[in-house]
Amino acid sequence: MVELNTTVAIIGAGPSGLLLSQLLANAGIDSVIIERSSKNHVLGRIRAGVLEWGTVETLKDAGVSERCFAEGLPHDGFDLFFNGERHRVDVSHYTGKQVMVYGQTEMTKDLIEQREAEEQSIFWSTPDAQLLDVDGNNPKVSFTNVDGKPVTLNAKIIAGCDGFRGISRQAIPQEKLREFERVYPFGWLGVLVDKPPLHHELIYANHQEGFALASMRSNTRSRYYVQCDNGDIVDDWTIDQFWSALITRLGPELGPKVQTGDPLEMSIAPLRSYVAEPMRYGRLFLAGDSAHIVPPTGAKGLNLAVADVRRLARAIERWKLKGADAALEDYSKEALNRVWKVERFSWYLSTMLHQFPEHSAFEKRMQEAEFSYVKSSEAATKSIAENYVGLPF
Ligand code: APR
Ligand code: PHB
Repeated sequence: MVELNTTVAIIGAGPSGLLLSQLLANAGIDSVIIERSSKNHVLGRIRAGVLEWGTVETLKDAGVSERCFAEGLPHDGFDLFFNGERHRVDVSHYTGKQVMVYGQTEMTKDLIEQREAEEQSIFWSTPDAQLLDVDGNNPKVSFTNVDGKPVTLNAKIIAGCDGFRGISRQAIPQEKLREFERVYPFGWLGVLVDKPPLHHELIYANHQEGFALASMRSNTRSRYYVQCDNGDIVDDWTIDQFWSALITRLGPELGPKVQTGDPLEMSIAPLRSYVAEPMRYGRLFLAGDSAHIVPPTGAKGLNLAVADVRRLARAIERWKLKGADAALEDYSKEALNRVWKVERFSWYLSTMLHQFPEHSAFEKRMQEAEFSYVKSSEAATKSIAENYVGLPF
């Protein structure tokens, strides 16, 4: 048996776990990360790519923003496109801020590089972690190390950064947990292609055949999505069928401008809204996808994780350095207050921009009226802008 000690045991080396470790290290607080998958598997994940300016500032504060500023694409706004009508949301005009197009994959790569440069202890390919005594005075994580030896990691705090399918949320007794969920009757089929983007900003389209999104990773690499049926698997779609659906849904003005090609990656993601309350149980604190999921329509998943982590790191720092338990006590309530507002925005945009099989004629008119109102109202457009650029932390 190997016995180890740390201040914070972090479960998961996704964006939440890696960023938390970096922020804690910058405050002189040690941590150990346990990750189920290999480093290459974590680095190979293709995820979203729009950073709120608050996320960019957090990366800057963490000292891992150099490549983001060098290679990222600052955007002033995006387009909504509804049955042939276009409406630009001028984020910079309404908020004085931009968003940064920079892939989560790249952000994860930057964080791993920095954590390794600082010799952070990360147990990769460790699928058997178990949380023990999380509501006691001696929380610990047990797992098997690469040499096959059992390890007990004693910690003062356990951070559950292990995503929606992790173990941390499961460590909260069912009778203490309140779960809220909305599963949407569709998914997103995404394609990554080495072709220049259709437009210099993002375009979210609602067409009678379904939703489509034109995004990008750089000026030479594009990311596109089309709404697909819930039961669809990637093999149900040929790349030609994808391009045809995308071009149709972007309409006669934009569709023909799409530069098609063979995909670097093609995958389907289901859409759900989910929140688990509370985000704390004893010495266990949840951050990121372990506590909540948003549909990708508002580009909020990564940004919400960053907001949790920034708040949790600050609370742990106050607790560790000033003995202030209050900050830890307030974490769950304060984090959830922002989580629910972001869940609302992601649900709102998803409801406006997708074709719902079960929608009545009345609900279809409500969708049209919502877009028509947004298109005609500075106040409604400003509301979308301030949510998209990111609510205050
Ligand atoms: N033990 C150790 N690690 C685990 C376990 C486990 N039992 N279960 C899951 N993990 C790891 C996963 O392999 C993953 O690397 O936890 C990490 C969780 O990362 P994410 O799912 O990316 O969640 P998070 O870090 O909160 O980032 C949220 O990532 O997936 C996107 O859409 C999501 O943009 C959002 C962002
Ligand atoms: C992406 O580029 O992957 C992306 C952008 C905006 C979204 C979702 C995904 O809302």
